[in-house]
Amino acid sequence: MSEKIKNILKQEDFSKNDLIELMKIDNKEDLDLLFKKAYEVKAKYVGKKVYYRGLIEISNKCIKNCKYCGIRRDNHKVDRFSMSKSEIMEAVKWIYENNYASIALQSGERQDEEFVSFIENLIKEIKNFSNGKLGITLSLGEQSKETYRRWFEAGAHRYLLRIESTNLDIYNHLHPMDNKHTFEVRKKCLEYLRDIGYQVGTGVMIGLPNQTEEDLVNDILFYKDMNIDMIGMGPYILHKDTPLGQEWKDIVVSEEKRVELGLKMIAITRIFLKDVNIAATTALQGLDPQGREKGLLAGANILMPTATALEHKNKYLLYDNKPGINDSVEKAKEIMDNNVKAIGDEIVYGEWGDSLHFKKK
Ligand code: 5AD
Ligand code: SF4
Repeated sequence: MSEKIKNILKQEDFSKNDLIELMKIDNKEDLDLLFKKAYEVKAKYVGKKVYYRGLIEISNKCIKNCKYCGIRRDNHKVDRFSMSKSEIMEAVKWIYENNYASIALQSGERQDEEFVSFIENLIKEIKNFSNGKLGITLSLGEQSKETYRRWFEAGAHRYLLRIESTNLDIYNHLHPMDNKHTFEVRKKCLEYLRDIGYQVGTGVMIGLPNQTEEDLVNDILFYKDMNIDMIGMGPYILHKDTPLGQEWKDIVVSEEKRVELGLKMIAITRIFLKDVNIAATTALQGLDPQGREKGLLAGANILMPTATALEHKNKYLLYDNKPGINDSVEKAKEIMDNNVKAIGDEIVYGEWGDSLHFKKK
């Protein structure tokens, strides 16, 4: 065990160099110490509690072409679908009846008016149906400030938009510049969301080609600079029908290392930012059968069980070997309940579980 790590973990505040030291931990003893500390910080600031967000993947149509993502525009092998309003409402009803209290609507990006008004009406219908009780999180990509405002006024109150990587070289390499897909636009969108009044979530992919420990620390510093309320991040996983999947198939950071980095990111974000909501993501589970539990033990407090209908689930594949695509919604819930109970956290039903960080502002 290193004295240096022990001493850093005794602090309340951390310099950038401290965070880099923590990110570089590579032995089991120090790692355990880091995770233990992060779990203590979680218990102190947000409780040993887990909130569920019922995730509905409403469409895999996307105008963007991110080089890592299985449903990118130019992947013509994808069978494209959009759930109808009644199909979505069926999933919403299931989530409501199971007392999750919050739903998350996610899809590939579209900016046309037909889509924007479809979502606007859908949000209103969900609010009506649940008498305002269901919290609504959106994860629908980059939009104009006006669109974000329309959806907020319709009743959505949280928005997730990942920054993916704050290293500009990596960002530019991963995102073709067409469709104005730039770092500046993405950052501007996060600012719009904040101005409008959403609880704002962002996150990055971890273990990307050429990404250093310092890059990951810069990502965490970005969360702080942007006053982010919620964080969803996970390891990068190859998808064979993508440019990045092809380009890096032989030289990518090992799966084990990506899981370890993913857990370190959760833990360091928790001890640095303290009261934010942090999700243990599906991608973590995708690379490690215990990924979810390990994520909660490293400081995460949010899980997003999918409530997408089975017939569509296997078409929403951002990466290869996505876990749970053959599980029914009931099965997905049962597995998750057991994961949480196994580590002794409490599942909180019937409460929105807003980011305490946001509430304090
Ligand atoms: N591996 C891991 N995460 C991915 N995402 C997209 N493709 C992959 C992949 N191959 C993540 C991105 C995006 C979110 C919806 O899914 O971070 O923002
Ligand atoms: Fe579209 Fe999101 Fe995939 Fe990029 S990561 S191609 S925006 S679904």
